[in-house]
Amino acid sequence: MGIQFKPRSLASFQRRLLGWFRKHSRDLPWRASRDPYRVWVAEIMLQQTRIAAVMPYYERFLQHFPDVRSLADAREEKVLQLWSGLGYYSRARNLHRATKEVVARHGGDFPGTLEETLALPGIGSYTAAAVLSIAKDVPLSVLDGNVARVLARLCAIRGDLRAPRRWRQLQKIAEKLLAQKAPGDWNQALMELGETICTPQTPRCEVCPVSRWCRAYSLGLTREIPAPRKRRAPVKIRVAAAILRDPQGRTILVRDPGAHDDVLFSRMWQFPAVEVARDPAAELAAHLEKILNINAGGLELKALPAARHGVTFRNITLLPFVAQVSRLPRRPRTRVLSIRDLSDLPVSSATKKIAAALSQP
Ligand code: ADE
Repeated sequence: MGIQFKPRSLASFQRRLLGWFRKHSRDLPWRASRDPYRVWVAEIMLQQTRIAAVMPYYERFLQHFPDVRSLADAREEKVLQLWSGLGYYSRARNLHRATKEVVARHGGDFPGTLEETLALPGIGSYTAAAVLSIAKDVPLSVLDGNVARVLARLCAIRGDLRAPRRWRQLQKIAEKLLAQKAPGDWNQALMELGETICTPQTPRCEVCPVSRWCRAYSLGLTREIPAPRKRRAPVKIRVAAAILRDPQGRTILVRDPGAHDDVLFSRMWQFPAVEVARDPAAELAAHLEKILNINAGGLELKALPAARHGVTFRNITLLPFVAQVSRLPRRPRTRVLSIRDLSDLPVSSATKKIAAALSQP
């Protein structure tokens, strides 16, 4: 099915949805101003992350870095620390690099064209369209998972929405529907509808402002559309991690030791860790011997409560161990610090979960 609107019907559809959005839109922190930088940070944080999770990070991040220049001038470690727990850290690294480019190439002003915007690290067509439309009224339509679901229902498009041909079809529909005079509100209205009413499982069609234009609704297909996504079979992984503790309550963190450090620890400071098969304690001890060159024979690794951690299709069980040592080794690319000061460093949420196991019964 394609798009079914005649021009007059399109105009009243747009008026209705925009009217609904202007009356009912949630008071979200990134809607307080149209500063491109603030919109940009929000759109990056909102990728793959729920609004409720983003809120506290957003406020805190902007308190530290209120404008492009303050972020561009920051140390990466500080940027990652403020992102710590939000996940997908390449977003933070790219955002940081991109602010440096905005300062160097555009005098600190967010670019005004699609081409220049897409040239910035970490900005794809979704983010470019979102920032330019919301902050600068550039008539570009956005398509993300929420908007795609709304449009697929509206036009009764079946099948996997992420299939490239169908995604392109949805992009064309988004472009045709775009309210040219209010592209920012329009895009946000579609997002908002997808997040609050046209939700994945049980859409609330009875309160939807545009149900009368919706083909899936009139055909009774809202439950069938969108078709469930084909998911990769989950892979089960067990990762054992060591909290070595000296008499002063200090521990040792390492970087890039090789065990799922990219997906699990995001190349940030982490406890020594390794993927394990049969005997987690023995395999972890062997790993410690290898990377820290310590004599694992004399090490008493005590198991702490396990923690679950899901990263995309990986289903990870974290197996934290603690061992008392008389002295922590000093090696390159390691860091010794008090366990209480862990939150001063950029660490992933997996590392936080491992540390939290220490204080569990
Ligand atoms: N999701 C992504 N961007 C958004 C925005 N600007 N408003 C609401 N939800 C969003």
